[in-house]
Amino acid sequence: MERELALEFVRVTEAAALATGRLMGRGDKIAADGAAVEAMRRAFDTVYIDGVVVIGEGEMDEAPMLYIGEKVGAGSPPQVDVAVDPLEGTNLAAKGLPNAISVLAVAPRNCLLHAPDIYMDKIAVGPKAKGRIKLDASVEENMGSVAEALGKKIEDMVAIILDRERHQEIIDELRRLGARVKLISDGDVSAAIATAVERTGVDILFGIGGAPEGVLAAAALKCLGGDMQARLIAEDDTDRKRIIEMGLQDPEQLLLMDDLIKGDDVIFSATGITDGDFLQGVRYAGNMATTHSVVMRGLTGTVRFIQATHRLDIKPHFVARTCS
Ligand code: FBP
Repeated sequence: MERELALEFVRVTEAAALATGRLMGRGDKIAADGAAVEAMRRAFDTVYIDGVVVIGEGEMDEAPMLYIGEKVGAGSPPQVDVAVDPLEGTNLAAKGLPNAISVLAVAPRNCLLHAPDIYMDKIAVGPKAKGRIKLDASVEENMGSVAEALGKKIEDMVAIILDRERHQEIIDELRRLGARVKLISDGDVSAAIATAVERTGVDILFGIGGAPEGVLAAAALKCLGGDMQARLIAEDDTDRKRIIEMGLQDPEQLLLMDDLIKGDDVIFSATGITDGDFLQGVRYAGNMATTHSVVMRGLTGTVRFIQATHRLDIKPHFVARTCS
């Protein structure tokens, strides 16, 4: 993919963040999500790609826009797979909590894992611990191996995990090992990225979250030189059938980084909606707004942070329609 596309994709996540940022803290996650989805969908129309949504807002019959299989872009080559989450962290945005972001990843056709909207078991680390994690190994083995790679003691490490009952065993084990634990209410894309951004202080991510979020996190970690392993969690035969239809022969296959994201030609863009660990949220002042984004390319490993000011009087479509 041409590198110029990177800036085009930032415009798309910026548009979603600008639209939904207005609704921060209003307690209405559906309105916040709707504003982000609509703005992102519209922004894609101006990007010269022949894109197909492979990770999106759900199946065609359950999502009006950005559904799996929907074509996006102005229609010209390159032919690409598109993974989107216009508002990752709907509760975070609705409550004004940290780390709500708008994200997308794009790769050549058939290079992103096609996954239904089910759960995924994940483990992720930054570049220094690449090759040192195993989803099927115990928490203790993984912590030991990553600690060694990082040159740290386990008690100096920070493990991040969604605060869910299903994770109690992992949390208990991390505490038994003496690790420092960061429990988050939502947003495991930001959490996975945090493992590869040193200033966040986060070393490793464990636990089960959304499969779409897993593919997006893997795209970012591929660009950042990090590592991830995962496994889809099929709850019934319908899930298993859907996984197979989407291209995986074994629904329980251990997914390595290259199964999640094939090759290095991937671009990842994220814009902050609320303030977070590595991105600032949207700021509004009269007719002006500022956004803070990160865009990364897997081919070169370049990571760019982009602070943009937007003239809302010139681009009024950036203001959420739901906002009175
Ligand atoms: P939404 O933006 O769809 O609300 O997802 C937020 C999130 O926390 C994800 O980051 C995470 O992967 C998933 O939900 C976890 O799902 P659950 O809340 O069902 O445990």
